[in-house]
Amino acid sequence: MQSSDKKSYIKRNFRFLAVGWTVLLVVAFSITVYLVYLNSIEHARIHAFGAFEKDVLFRRWNALHGGVYVPITEYTQPNKYLKLKDRDVTTTNGKKLTLINPAYMTRQMYELARQEGGLLGNITFLNPIRPENKADQWETFAFEEFEKGKQEVASVEEIGGQKHLRLMRPLYVEAVCLNCHQEQNNQIGEIRGGISVAVPLDRHQKQIVLHVSGFFGIYGIVWILGLVTLKKVKTDFIQNEQLKNKAELELEELNRKLEEKVEDRTAELKKTQKELANKEKFSMIGKLAATIRHDLRNPLAVINNSNYYLRMKIGDSDETLKRHFNMIDQQIGYADRIIGDLLDFSKTTSPKMQAASVNQLLEEIINSFQAKKGLTINLEPMADLPLVSLDEGLIRRAIENILTNAEQSMPTGGEIRVSSRIEQDQLCISISDTGEGIPKENLERIFEPLFTTKKNGIGLGLMIVKEILAKHKGVVLVESEVKKGSTFIMKLPLSVH
Ligand code: HEC
Repeated sequence: MQSSDKKSYIKRNFRFLAVGWTVLLVVAFSITVYLVYLNSIEHARIHAFGAFEKDVLFRRWNALHGGVYVPITEYTQPNKYLKLKDRDVTTTNGKKLTLINPAYMTRQMYELARQEGGLLGNITFLNPIRPENKADQWETFAFEEFEKGKQEVASVEEIGGQKHLRLMRPLYVEAVCLNCHQEQNNQIGEIRGGISVAVPLDRHQKQIVLHVSGFFGIYGIVWILGLVTLKKVKTDFIQNEQLKNKAELELEELNRKLEEKVEDRTAELKKTQKELANKEKFSMIGKLAATIRHDLRNPLAVINNSNYYLRMKIGDSDETLKRHFNMIDQQIGYADRIIGDLLDFSKTTSPKMQAASVNQLLEEIINSFQAKKGLTINLEPMADLPLVSLDEGLIRRAIENILTNAEQSMPTGGEIRVSSRIEQDQLCISISDTGEGIPKENLERIFEPLFTTKKNGIGLGLMIVKEILAKHKGVVLVESEVKKGSTFIMKLPLSVH
């Protein structure tokens, strides 16, 4: 993966993480808010339940006494629904008292509470003695629930435009109740009305707002801290990634350089090895040449002389003999050239440079070259060629060697074209033939010592050409195409210093 791709991939992932983190906190915060709400409702419920319990206690206390006598005032008038003989009494001092039953007491208590703007309460029944005590809609529903076995009904309801937690629990008939409640054949343990309490939620709502804003602050801080950490981790990560990439690139570069070096060194080593091998061949040929040149020159000279003498003696009359004499001559020439090559090779002297007309030299060489039948040699000299300083003897030998090779590559005859020209401050002599050509795999090796593909050759000719050119600070190149022919180009610097 590209490093920029990687970067955007990481960025995308981190964006995903940031969104995930935000969603997580929003969900957590929502749950917290909901829990805060439930908690405050529960508080209100406990509050209401406490009130209920106390009411029941007061009422029981009252009921235990079969009602309580209090002075009759404008506010506390005798209860018209209480039909007991001793409802109203007068003390020995003439003070008028009336009996307060639990329901009446509860009612008055709730009236007081209402005036103080707190808790609301009601004593109620579906079928009350006092019509005002009749259950309202919500209370009726609660009674239905009690019938099903529920002990308590509580919910948030609106009363007078304000939210309240309403709670209602049933009242059961006890023995003490029966003093006054025999009206409906009440049985002990059965439901005889209920007390419904309503706690205003405004105080709790304020509490909710307070808690929620507190949590909002905490969650906000945690959220921001999380995002900051995430961002830090992201930049660190990207930086790390970049460092890693850089290190990788550097490593790659080092590797590449190392490989290059190894390749270079290997190539150098191969070259030196080859040079060494060639040098070995050179020294071997040198030694060989030194011994051969004396030992063969003389016998060859003797054969040549004898051949000449025989020819003189016998004459040219017999055609067969003539042919054989010619063959002897030819083979002597061939052997002589090999010896010449060996001689040239073993010579270590530096070339004797002289200003020479190359075109003239070429003409002389071609004229004296005894081309066999069917072979034509054409010279294409460049006009106005300046004199070039060279060792005539050596260059002649080089050109002759190439011509001999060309001739041998065309056993059935053909054409050799020799031309001279100047190219980039260099004298170029090119010799093209229309012979067999040299296969690609041999092209590089033909200048090596002792490399030959001929039946009767020892592989020195072209190597000597190369050596001669090197002595002139020149080169020899070859282009060849199998079955079409080869071109040898000798390049010599125009001015040899
Ligand atoms: C001293 C007599 C007396 C005793 C004891 C008494 N009550 Fe009542 N109760 C009354 C009277 C009278 C009313 C009629 C309405 C009022 O006074 O508000 C009443 C009303 C009620 C109501 C309101 C519904 C209605 O019918 O108007 C309930 C509920 C109730 N009583 C339950 C009880 C229970 C439960 C007990 C036993 C723990 C009990 N009372 C004991 C006299 C009594």
